[in-house]
Amino acid sequence: MHDMTAANLRSAFGGECMAHTRYLVWANRAEQNGFPNVGRLFRAIAHAESVHATNHFTELRNEVGALLVPSTAGFGIGTTSENLQGGIEGETFEINELYPTYLETAKFQGEGGARLSFHYALSAEKIHAAMYTQAKQAVDGGKDPALGPVQICEVCGYTVEGDMPDKCPICGATRDQFRTFA
Ligand code: FE2
Ligand code: FE2
Ligand code: FE2
Repeated sequence: MHDMTAANLRSAFGGECMAHTRYLVWANRAEQNGFPNVGRLFRAIAHAESVHATNHFTELRNEVGALLVPSTAGFGIGTTSENLQGGIEGETFEINELYPTYLETAKFQGEGGARLSFHYALSAEKIHAAMYTQAKQAVDGGKDPALGPVQICEVCGYTVEGDMPDKCPICGATRDQFRTFA
């Protein structure tokens, strides 16, 4: 694998692992503060981030060894509104800068597997930013947002509220490959 794509996969792996944990911390906080649906949203999206981390790690199967991994991570445990804002900012950075750049580099270097892994993540992060934005509007109005079941594709991390789709619109996975957070 080309060095730059390997470094980008490692960095993205680090970022996704940290987002996963950060969202679980913020889920606990939301539940403690009387926002159970925000808690469930953070838990569902945390799972999607672990799907992304797993995909990136799997693409690195032939890049063996211990390395320092530089990644951006947002810190802080604030109010639920502040934590949702933190989620929006992290996802927006991934959507506008990180994943498009990594995706184009993988494309340029002919790294098909990495390209797909970045494409899956980028597609899901767009949905995450929108869901956090909607949730924050409710929280800022003093309410826990209405939230149906949240479905996560175990293959690509695609995230959707409501009924399970027959087929994942991003990767084509079937219903048995979804996990429901209800
Ligand atoms: Fe992600
Ligand atoms: Fe995300
Ligand atoms: Fe999928």
